[in-house]
Amino acid sequence: MDKNRRRLIQAGLVGGTALAAGCVQSEKAATECPEVAKVKPEPMKILVLGGTGYIGPHMVRELLRRGHEVTLFNRGKRNADLFPDVETLVGDRDSQLEALRGRQWDAVVDNSGYVPRMVRESADLLKSAVPHYLFISSISAYAKFDQELDENSPLGTMPDETVEDVTGETYGPMKVLCEKAVTEVYGAANTTILRPTYICGPGDHTDRFSYWVVRASKGGEMLWPGSSTDALQIIDPRDLALFVADCLEQRINGIYNTVTPKGGYTMGRLLQDTQAVAPSAVTPIWMDLEFIEQNKLLESNSLPTWAPAGSEEGKWAYVSGERAVAAGMVNRPIRETIRDLLDWWKTLPEERTSTMRAGMTAEREAELIAAWKTR
Ligand SMILES: NC(=O)c1ccc[n+]([C@@H]2O[C@H](COP(=O)([O-])OP(=O)(O)OC[C@H]3O[C@@H](n4cnc5c(N)ncnc54)[C@H](OP(=O)(O)O)[C@@H]3O)[C@@H](O)[C@H]2O)c1
Repeated sequence: MDKNRRRLIQAGLVGGTALAAGCVQSEKAATECPEVAKVKPEPMKILVLGGTGYIGPHMVRELLRRGHEVTLFNRGKRNADLFPDVETLVGDRDSQLEALRGRQWDAVVDNSGYVPRMVRESADLLKSAVPHYLFISSISAYAKFDQELDENSPLGTMPDETVEDVTGETYGPMKVLCEKAVTEVYGAANTTILRPTYICGPGDHTDRFSYWVVRASKGGEMLWPGSSTDALQIIDPRDLALFVADCLEQRINGIYNTVTPKGGYTMGRLLQDTQAVAPSAVTPIWMDLEFIEQNKLLESNSLPTWAPAGSEEGKWAYVSGERAVAAGMVNRPIRETIRDLLDWWKTLPEERTSTMRAGMTAEREAELIAAWKTR
């Protein structure tokens, strides 16, 4: 696997149903829209494996908002006090599943599955107690990003399927094996597999997409890679959460890429939208691939959520999400994601925001811009 692949991996209302039905997003609209009233499901008992990290809380909030009863299962390491009123079972995906025994739920959301053996263990244990298994996979499951992809595109493989170390190289192929484990145990008719791309929005602890937005909001000369027409594809965690809830309520089975429209958004639009949300005098300095490679910017996390057009990863933002949209998934405008991301960022303590976890420091950026100008 090449270095670019490693870079990529280092990848209420009544939700989608209401939006698909053309209903307005308000409490009033929900009572006025017969389509919505008709599909309002009975409250369900839902087990969430890993509900306290980044995307889990978005799902838990959406499920609670819809009136479902949620049970969390995790080790108690991340945000252990986030949902004091939600039942929490403590255990570890790695052979410490006792807390799950003897219980019944209507559906399980597996949001913490990385190692196939552990995913198979939980699927085996839950099969007789939970009729529907929804597994959060990743677009990293695909073997290559050198062409446009859909759910039938070739998947990554592991030379040694017993390997359990999650690395940039193994993350995607291990997700493939996790998907396979769930499907073998539960059967395709009882399994939902979602393959999100970069999940970007409020709460993102990786700072990959956030880097561009936060940096652009500060203004000044700013390093941008490649061209303003280079494509970018994300999924807002709240849109993913809405679709997860729809899948559970409507028993939507199958495999779905969860992404914004392929090729429909660009790095240039990201800059424009950030400027619209947080006006600042930014002068973009678009740097070509030769300069980027000379300065080894592809070998670090300096240019997150970007891959050179024409490279082996060049079509990473051309993953089709049409199947999920046909099933009811709705993408909010990315401008809204940017606005809410910046609002969330402003609530964080200075010790968290002073050093971003992706991108580059102001000093490094200034150094590179100076070198670019004198090349
Ligand atoms: N973030 C993205 O851009 C992205 C993109 C595509 C796919 N995904 C997938 O989305 C899922 C969630 O990602 P995330 O970023 O929200 O993850 P995260 O922030 O790391 O959260 C992981 C959750 O799982 C729990 N957990 C982790 N290891 C566990 C273990 N051994 N036993 C029991 N619970 C465990 C954690 O709680 P404790 O630590 O307390 O146990 C936490 O609640 C993952 O499957 C990931 O592969 C993420």
